[in-house]
Amino acid sequence: MQQDLITHSEAETEALGATLGRLLQAGDVLALVGDLGAGKTCLARGVARGLGVNEPVTSPTFILVAEYSTAAGFPLYHADCYRLEHAAAEALSIGLDELLLDDGVAIVEWAERIESLLPPDHLRITLTALDDARRQLVFVPHGARAAQILGELFGE
Ligand SMILES: Nc1ncnc2c1ncn2[C@@H]1O[C@H](COP(=O)(O)OP(=O)(O)OP(=O)(O)O)[C@@H](O)[C@H]1O
Ligand SMILES: [Mg+2]
Repeated sequence: MQQDLITHSEAETEALGATLGRLLQAGDVLALVGDLGAGKTCLARGVARGLGVNEPVTSPTFILVAEYSTAAGFPLYHADCYRLEHAAAEALSIGLDELLLDDGVAIVEWAERIESLLPPDHLRITLTALDDARRQLVFVPHGARAAQILGELFGE
């Protein structure tokens, strides 16, 4: 089962993220895949908003992983693996593997770079720029919990 849709603006992608964020629970993992400028951080910003994060969410490109507190009390981890040169090994050295199993929500940009560290249950979202303003988002659930999230997001 997979689902896809097209957004037509940054605001629409962020709003979609917020809708998704409202469905998430502690332990959920979002694996974001897509080129530079595809909209991963924009979607993540929306997810954070949906989770009731009050702080501004910026790109964690240089810090690798940012932690926010959500309205529900669990942490939101926002990681970006673009700058990891030996991605899986470096991710291990900063403890990303443990964060992915932690009792928070985790969003990983450039998730394909740490494929081997992703938990079996995660929602994969692949973003593609179609033109200046349109982005295709393809949602592929891995595991039962991700399938449940997807069902709720698409209203099944
Ligand atoms: N439909 C859209 N959804 C999201 N962003 C869009 C859309 N249309 C245009 N944009 C623009 O695309 C860019 C997306 O930037 P963003 O930082 O979210 O990308 P990213 O995938 O996180 O890139 P990076 O790999 O560099 O972290 C922004 O400049 C945004 O304004
Ligand atoms: Mg980004």
